[in-house]
Amino acid sequence: MCGIVGYVGRYAALPVLLDGLRRLEYRGYDSAGVAVVEDGRLALTWAEGKLDRLEAKLEAQPRFEGTTGIGHTRWATHGPPSETNAHPHVDCLGKLAVVHNGIIENYLALKEQLAAKGHRFRSETDTEVIPHLLEEAYDGSLEAAVREVAGLLQGSFAMAATSVHEPGTIVGARKGSPLVVGLGRGENYLASDIPAILTRTRDTIILEDGEIVVLTPDEVRVLDREGRPAPKEPFRVHWDPDRAERGGYPHFMLKEIHEQPRALADTLAGRTGPGTRIELDELRFDATGARALDRVFITACGTAYHAGLVGKHLLEGLARLRVEIDVASEFRYRDPVICPGDLAIVVSQSGETADTLEALRECRRRGARTLAITNVVGNSISREADTVIYTRAGPEIAVASTKAYTTQILVLTLIALKLGELRGHVSARQLSHYLRGLNALPRLAENVLQTSGQLADLARNWTALEDVFFIGRGLDHALALEGQLKLKEISYIHAEAYPAGELKHGTLALIVPGVPVIALVTQPELRDKMMSNITEVKARGATVIGLALEGDDDITRHADHLVTLPRVDGLLTPVLAAIPLQLLAYHAAVARGCDVDQPRNLAKSVTVE
Ligand code: AGP
Repeated sequence: MCGIVGYVGRYAALPVLLDGLRRLEYRGYDSAGVAVVEDGRLALTWAEGKLDRLEAKLEAQPRFEGTTGIGHTRWATHGPPSETNAHPHVDCLGKLAVVHNGIIENYLALKEQLAAKGHRFRSETDTEVIPHLLEEAYDGSLEAAVREVAGLLQGSFAMAATSVHEPGTIVGARKGSPLVVGLGRGENYLASDIPAILTRTRDTIILEDGEIVVLTPDEVRVLDREGRPAPKEPFRVHWDPDRAERGGYPHFMLKEIHEQPRALADTLAGRTGPGTRIELDELRFDATGARALDRVFITACGTAYHAGLVGKHLLEGLARLRVEIDVASEFRYRDPVICPGDLAIVVSQSGETADTLEALRECRRRGARTLAITNVVGNSISREADTVIYTRAGPEIAVASTKAYTTQILVLTLIALKLGELRGHVSARQLSHYLRGLNALPRLAENVLQTSGQLADLARNWTALEDVFFIGRGLDHALALEGQLKLKEISYIHAEAYPAGELKHGTLALIVPGVPVIALVTQPELRDKMMSNITEVKARGATVIGLALEGDDDITRHADHLVTLPRVDGLLTPVLAAIPLQLLAYHAAVARGCDVDQPRNLAKSVTVE
């Protein structure tokens, strides 16, 4: 996610802005910029890359001395990392500056309206519509202009605006992305996250969605969406800086698990229109091309590979396409039969995984049309694929991938539905059904996160555990593979995943009294078969932990423990079902005193083959 810092007070703003942005670096970013109100003008500087480059540019020019300013570190979503796409963005006359975190879903329509009025844009970002909208709305009050513009924006945003018209004033607005006020004496701060201001003040105000805040050196006024005063109790932060960087969570992994509702919503934003519309232009298929498509190859590594397994199931089920899937490190060496026009989908959070990058190159060499699903804008894989569909999970810091995985599944679901619709296999009625389910997932994911305490209770007893087995059928087998990887890689407990029907062909020999078996039962049409498999392992003394749909009470007769999920269409369940498995792995690792965010031997991006 992007980082926002604002300062208004008695001292030069620039050092405060740079220090605050430095403390937000952990969030990940690819460019940065500052705007300071200085002698009746906006002093602006941007730089692609890290803050060192911004500071070098600032050092090489007369120092900004103004006492009102805003700064930003950008995590690219719309438009690659570049100086022109870096924030702050300004209006035509360079009188208003804005920094923003989030996604403006309706920016294209707003941009067209503004361009028709003669506004000129310099960037490819969604953000840049905001200063031009403010330019249109400004009539002597920045507060009123921000409130009016905030009402025009669809999607999620946290923004800060300043203007030469009102030096000594910063106005912030939040909807869906966090915004925090820091309270000083004769100075006040605004930031997207507490770490940016923690060394300046521990007295903060956390804004709620829809609220506007007006900061001057001696006053902070919070207003509700109607412009009425919204008095707020200051919140005193007692975290140390490290914990503050994790948003108060003990580990980045837990923070990122809990960011999934937001990540899912951001990934869907602008892509699931009302009714039966999927907006996925990046897919670049029309009905003719989609009907002519015959075969799809999916290749990835690790967790991304497990997302690809779900994608295979969905593309076959919804779009009736023949799908082959390979672990990237194997793909290249099996001399795959790829025909020109086949579609090759590579999945990679980092977009820098060497095995996956080489597999992509192999697909291109063999004439396939290549599509990348990735989370980091402008990475190697996104630059070499024919087209890219970005997940919008925001920076994923923990080595164990969580929100990237569920957003990858979401994008694969959208692709399968879109191709299914274009190929005539998904009707308007079916599409409407699935879209209702998809749009409900962020809210339902919030509900599933409530199982964390139950899973912590389960994992607390796993300190001396040596083996765990995950079993499932169909989509639940793909899920079982992801569950075992999460558990292994951060708790170091040996875990294996098996197609439930395969257990009796050998591995059942390892099922002994007390060994935990995680039985995934989220696919109604396979439920009865799973019940047989649960009985099978129970008969050998296994401790069965069932993951099933709400209301499936019959399972409690066989399972020793039961974790339930909200009922959604079986094809959409993988997104929700992943969360309890992530939490189980997390709590097991904590119980065993493991380094949750940086597990031994592993790296966040494996850039070697
Ligand atoms: C996931 O928890 C692991 N850290 C690892 O398997 C990861 O998914 C794999 O290395 C692929 O990374 P990528 O998505 O960045 O390509």
